[in-house]
Amino acid sequence: MTQGIRISISGARSAAVGREHGVTPSELKALEPVVAQAHRALRAERSQKRYGFYDLHKDKAILGEVQRAAKGFSKARPQNLVVLGIGGSALGTTALVTALKPPYYNLLSEEERGGRPRVFVMDNVDPETFHQMMRICPPKKTIYNVISKSGGTAETVAQLLIVVDQLEKAVGASALKEHLVVTTGALERGAKPNPLQALVKKRGLVSFDVPPNVGGRFSVFSSVGLFPAAVLGMDLKALFAGCASMDKQCSRASLQDNPAYLRAAVEFLGSRDKGKSISVMLPYADALRDVADWYRQIWAESLGKRCNLDGTNTAWYAGQTPVKALGVTDQHSQLQLYLEGPNDKIITVLGVAAFRKRVPIPKAGPSVKGPAYLHGSTLNKLMAAERKATVDSLKENDRPVMAVNFPQVNEFTVAELLYMLEVETAMAGRLFDVDAFGQPAVEQIKVLTRRNMGAKG
Ligand code: PA5
Repeated sequence: MTQGIRISISGARSAAVGREHGVTPSELKALEPVVAQAHRALRAERSQKRYGFYDLHKDKAILGEVQRAAKGFSKARPQNLVVLGIGGSALGTTALVTALKPPYYNLLSEEERGGRPRVFVMDNVDPETFHQMMRICPPKKTIYNVISKSGGTAETVAQLLIVVDQLEKAVGASALKEHLVVTTGALERGAKPNPLQALVKKRGLVSFDVPPNVGGRFSVFSSVGLFPAAVLGMDLKALFAGCASMDKQCSRASLQDNPAYLRAAVEFLGSRDKGKSISVMLPYADALRDVADWYRQIWAESLGKRCNLDGTNTAWYAGQTPVKALGVTDQHSQLQLYLEGPNDKIITVLGVAAFRKRVPIPKAGPSVKGPAYLHGSTLNKLMAAERKATVDSLKENDRPVMAVNFPQVNEFTVAELLYMLEVETAMAGRLFDVDAFGQPAVEQIKVLTRRNMGAKG
């Protein structure tokens, strides 16, 4: 059996950081009936298929579909895969790429990349960046996956217009289908097609549906994340196995036995009762850096709400500000604040037991001598020592800290973490008493952007 991640909240308990900052056993006990009720409500919504993210990993057919499509596109040996999308349509892929492809992947030779294309996730409309991407990814040698559930997001549609224009000039309209894959919401009967759906129909493009009950930030295990993952040769079955393993653990009704519920409870109690308005994710591994970015979105966009869940309080102003940091880099940037500044954070440290590479530090040589403790050691050992130093210092300064320990970063363990955080967010939505699945304020910016661009109506 594949070894999974281990989750600990012990450093956020009162026994570790005191009653003022850590959760006490009686506070957790008092929350048990609330969590039990929320669990029943979430299970009911899951069985009514209101929220599809829970069960994406059971859809084995999609694996065959994305893999077949990826194989078809790989025949022409494309040099680049460019994902056009934003928010939930982009962050999951970025998290998977950073975690599961080697560092500096795009700088490796084609052989070192196993014949797979380089990958660029374009989640902004900065003209300089987009121009440069188009320059270094010639359309003839590139496949584009445009992803937008709504099909109406200005940023993504603008990117698509540019890409289609360039492709038509380079390969001709009839060859668009060899370079462009569309991932969008399914066309509902009688509805007017969105621009992506219309393009699919007009040019006979390969396309994937985003299930209607799966929101952007919960979509990484749908075709949104899976098609790019397949093109890049990730182990999709292992991703699904990681989700299934966590689904089992996060289906437990009991607060004490459910890692997602426990973590949600710590964040909620810390936020409500102990002034912990900030939730920091601090991975001690470059590979997990963008997982923290993905977390930042799901936590912010799901919980940051003006209204309570039943809409009766329109001045609820719920949420906890998620922050991403990186060990050890931010020990020399953020940690001074985290240790001595306002005690307003709960910090989750992500640790890795076995890195995929081991880098020895040489013994003292004729040219350079460092401190004796470094000679003959490894960067792996230094990384572990730094992580332990941070966790111990946080606790000594009464700063609540939770841990997620990876035996190794791989498809299984990364999927476990992402799935757990999705369930944690769903439970946190209930505890914070907000609708975790909408994003009315984001929609408001989308409308205003269109208006600012001169759209009518
Ligand atoms: O999580 C969400 O729903 C959002 O972040 C969306 O993913 C984002 O706004 C992009 O929307 P769309 O996929 O419709 O282009």
